Amino acid sequence: MTEPLKPTMLRFDSIDSTNLEAMRQARAGAQEGLCIVAREQTAGRGRLDRSWLSPRDAGLYLSIVLRPQLKLNVWPLVTLMGALAVSDALRHLYGLSTDIKWPNDVCVGDRKLCGILAETFETEAGSVCVLGIGINLLKAALPPELEALATSIESAAQAVPDAEALLQALLRRLALRYEQLQETDGAPSVLRDWTAVSSYAFGKIVHVVAGAEVFAGVTCGLEDDGALRVEIANGEIKVVRAGDVRSVRSKR
Ligand code: BTN
Repeated sequence: MTEPLKPTMLRFDSIDSTNLEAMRQARAGAQEGLCIVAREQTAGRGRLDRSWLSPRDAGLYLSIVLRPQLKLNVWPLVTLMGALAVSDALRHLYGLSTDIKWPNDVCVGDRKLCGILAETFETEAGSVCVLGIGINLLKAALPPELEALATSIESAAQAVPDAEALLQALLRRLALRYEQLQETDGAPSVLRDWTAVSSYAFGKIVHVVAGAEVFAGVTCGLEDDGALRVEIANGEIKVVRAGDVRSVRSKR
């Protein structure tokens, strides 16, 4: 039995990146549950070395220090459970029905509402995963060139969101999903839930860029560690552990 996650907050007006601050704090010995929240980030980080635009008060920017009691091979599921927790909170607070683009972009329709960056590293007190979550609250979070690809709660729910209420709802959902992941058979149960809410799990025609490899295929479920299985034209199954997966046209 693992202890329930009890978040403690450290708030900043402005910071380079909440992930970087959470990593600094974890290296200095921060306990599991430390949650860094900032009103703006000056060097917000995204997946695949991209940046994450973080204008003041236009998004929710947070990172939480986790020290999961899990076999290392299932640590990638922390990021999938993070996306589930965000989806749970958005459904609960705004009635939003979301999709999850593999591995962890929370979308409304085809537009991205939330990005998640999990960073894993070693500290003197053991292995750490910093789970960073960025949710677009207001239209102002998005530059015009991203309008076709991304959305905000303001646009999707047609309401100006209360950032604090969302933060609290999200932390509650995260604690529940994290507990689920660490239960006996938690990994298959998180995979089942992720598969049930993501249109990317099965039958999605995708274009994949994974390092130097570029291919197209049809998704056919997840591996035990959350990697995406993609069947290519010759019937071979490619397993994608890192990379960019884009929907080309859905079979559903
Ligand atoms: C992505 O989709 O590329 C992941 C984006 C993750 C952004 C969040 S905002 C809070 C936290 N701090 C960061 O620097 N990045 C994550």
